[in-house]
Amino acid sequence: MIIVPGSVNADLLFKVARLPRPGETVLCPGYVMAPGGKGANQAAAAAKAGADVRFVGHVGDDAYGSVLRGLLQDAGVGCELLAVSRRPTAIAVIGVDEAGENAIIVGSGANLDTAAHQIPDALLGPGTTVLCQNEIRREETFAALVRAKARGARTVLNMAPAGPVPAEVLRALDVLVVNELEAEIVAGAPGEGPEAAARLLAGRHGLACIVTLGGAGCLAVARAEAWRVPVLPIRPVDTTGAGDAFVGALAAWLDGGAPLLDALRAASVAAACTCEAVGAQTAQPRRAVIEARLPDLPPATAL
Ligand code: RIB
Ligand code: NA
Repeated sequence: MIIVPGSVNADLLFKVARLPRPGETVLCPGYVMAPGGKGANQAAAAAKAGADVRFVGHVGDDAYGSVLRGLLQDAGVGCELLAVSRRPTAIAVIGVDEAGENAIIVGSGANLDTAAHQIPDALLGPGTTVLCQNEIRREETFAALVRAKARGARTVLNMAPAGPVPAEVLRALDVLVVNELEAEIVAGAPGEGPEAAARLLAGRHGLACIVTLGGAGCLAVARAEAWRVPVLPIRPVDTTGAGDAFVGALAAWLDGGAPLLDALRAASVAAACTCEAVGAQTAQPRRAVIEARLPDLPPATAL
């Protein structure tokens, strides 16, 4: 079972010719509301990848809240631990330019109420994977991970958006997933590059460190092994949620007992598929699609 204490946002997506600069206004014909939030996205991706997933969070007592809860349930995510807050449901304003790149502002609202104590002890044990991101209060994320590890669960942290992570939390992690920028911030090694940062984090804290590299795939450093995993050849339409699909599929494969390299390959395929359509959860592939496209993924190389 995978437990995801995390954010759930209503994404307002704007397709613009180019993203506005400070002080500038850009117009576009319309917008789309789509389910988002890094926590909810990763929970939905893991459920679609075949895992038994419980989401832990807060929505507001408003229309977005009930729509988002319904869509998460439709994706197969258990929402018994998704509570209702007095604050409004979180909203993310997302501009996507012609190259498929995005810029995001999140108004956290109800996500600020999400807390580690919402996870019952009975759910935390050796059969559980706890999957976290950095879109709820970081003290709560860190507390959930440390408690999960102490109770024998597998712990996975996607430290996005970027921020520093205390050493005691890094010690409690089995898997850390970061992009290049996040890797250097977590490692405290600016300008070192992704592989050096990953080797440093893996060596110092005894975790598997995965650095996502966008269109260049990802690299992973685990105890005795290191790989670079490529991507599927695709034409990106909207990269929103690609990282979340990567992490969700990775957690689903690991929770199912797969070796790390198999999980990385599935994650890479899931991320690519999510770039081929608009939105985050709306673009995620189901397990059968991931499996069908795995043969098109070029082989990983050892580092
Ligand atoms: O990672 C993509 C997500 O980031 C979006 O769904 C948006 O809600 C923001 O949190
Ligand atoms: Na997308």
